[in-house]
Amino acid sequence: MDAKDRLIQELRRVERLVVLTGAGMSTESGLPDFRSKDGLWRKHRPEELASVDALLQRPLLFYEFYRYRLGLLDGVAPNPGHLALAELERQGKLHCIVTQNVDGLHTQAGSRNVYEIHGSLRQARCHTCGRSHPVETLRKPVTSLSELPRCRCGGLIRPGVVLFGEMLPEDALSRAIAAVETCDALLVIGTSLQVYPAASLPRLALDHGARLWVINLTPTPYDAFADIVVTGKAAEVLGPMTRPHE
Ligand code: OAD
Repeated sequence: MDAKDRLIQELRRVERLVVLTGAGMSTESGLPDFRSKDGLWRKHRPEELASVDALLQRPLLFYEFYRYRLGLLDGVAPNPGHLALAELERQGKLHCIVTQNVDGLHTQAGSRNVYEIHGSLRQARCHTCGRSHPVETLRKPVTSLSELPRCRCGGLIRPGVVLFGEMLPEDALSRAIAAVETCDALLVIGTSLQVYPAASLPRLALDHGARLWVINLTPTPYDAFADIVVTGKAAEVLGPMTRPHE
């Protein structure tokens, strides 16, 4: 039996699964990841564009980058991999998804228990007072400093994502950690596991006696510790699970 078949078999009988996803989960929906050949960080330097420094020191560039990121989401839909995970949750096997993705596609696919530890591109808030604002505010082109989107308190309205130099949302992270510490298995999908603290979750799962499964196109630092490593595309591997008679 190959790794893919073993994984499918395990997913049919797992009782408390936690899934950790990264950008590779959404490439089959048409979104680029960060570190592959066509990844976003191959063309842009994250510290220059996606950081608190960028927001405050180079706001025109910052807002252009996030307008571009929001534009990438237009017309993008969950893929069969997202749908398969939502189905596993409905079946009571999947406890939660911990995602580094900011695209909202897990929720759009019908998953309910989703911890977005890097925030969400589908939300906007004031950088100063934290008030929520419609994300459409960030779609307007900003060509001069006087056009920067501002809250009624005067603060800048910024995307609801975690920027370089910021802490992760405490609530989502602590729930994610608690879930990983109590799962039977952690399934890691489409992440290079280069960014912490997300990258420390597989170790945490192993230390608490969970099994580790990986679906990724390229090797990850945790492959050697995983019970099952499927080298392949997330939607291609998971999609057939939810098709009838398979
Ligand atoms: P990366 O781009 O670092 O890694 C994506 C991984 O997914 C790579 O190992 C790819 O080989 C793999 N991959 C691509 N397409 C796939 C597919 N269809 N099926 C399976 N695997 C596939 O993206 P992340 O690990 O998500 O953070 O990056 C982590 C964080 O770095 C992001 O959340 C973002 C970024 O800086 C912030 O912006 C805070």
